[in-house]
Amino acid sequence: MSLKIALTKGRVERKVIPLLEQAGIDCTPLKNKKRKLIVQTEDNKFEFILAKGPDVTTYLNAGVVDIGIVGSDILNEQQNDQYELLDLEVGKCQFVLASTADFNVGSPERKIIGTKYPVITKKYFESLGQDVEIVRIEGSVELAPLIGLADAIVDITETGTTLRENNLYVFDYLDKVSTRLVVNRMSLKQHSTEVFNLVDNLKKVVSEKIKLQGEKIR
Ligand code: PRP
Repeated sequence: MSLKIALTKGRVERKVIPLLEQAGIDCTPLKNKKRKLIVQTEDNKFEFILAKGPDVTTYLNAGVVDIGIVGSDILNEQQNDQYELLDLEVGKCQFVLASTADFNVGSPERKIIGTKYPVITKKYFESLGQDVEIVRIEGSVELAPLIGLADAIVDITETGTTLRENNLYVFDYLDKVSTRLVVNRMSLKQHSTEVFNLVDNLKKVVSEKIKLQGEKIR
């Protein structure tokens, strides 16, 4: 039986495929998948389910996949209790509090904050002792302070380009984010050999990559 892996579509998928390949998985069917959402490797060892990030944990929780590959932003937001086995050290970005230049985080008025991450946002403002109104936005969160929907946003930034190009400034840095490999607890018992084989191979790839990056910096 194949090991079922829910892989976050898009950015995460693109960053993770090279790691999977270096771990010895032939990703040709995955790279040629076009609009297919379920892709099996030639040797039938792995079945990839291409899903939106927040749905990866839904599939894991329901026990319909064995492994999930998803950003820690989503795991933290969902306060998910899945078993995290590996930080893949790709898809690195960071949560920030951002707004237009005139924003004052210390001002006494109750603020309106736009975000895709209400749980993380609430926790952050609680840590500042502030009760804020949170407006949930599905995408292009940067619009919110620009068009007067919110006083500021809590969002992830990777290169900072979107903020810069929209004249937004970072007022605080929150948690760092990276792509994680999580496993369904039941699968860990039922397919422990396959799961640990995959994790061990990926672990070697990730540490080798970090070592090389370190050597380049030196
Ligand atoms: C994310 C995030 C920012 C952008 C930051 O959005 O919400 O908008 O990436 O990246 P940057 O710092 O490299 O510019 P995403 O592209 O996932 O799409 P979305 O706006 O629809 O959420």
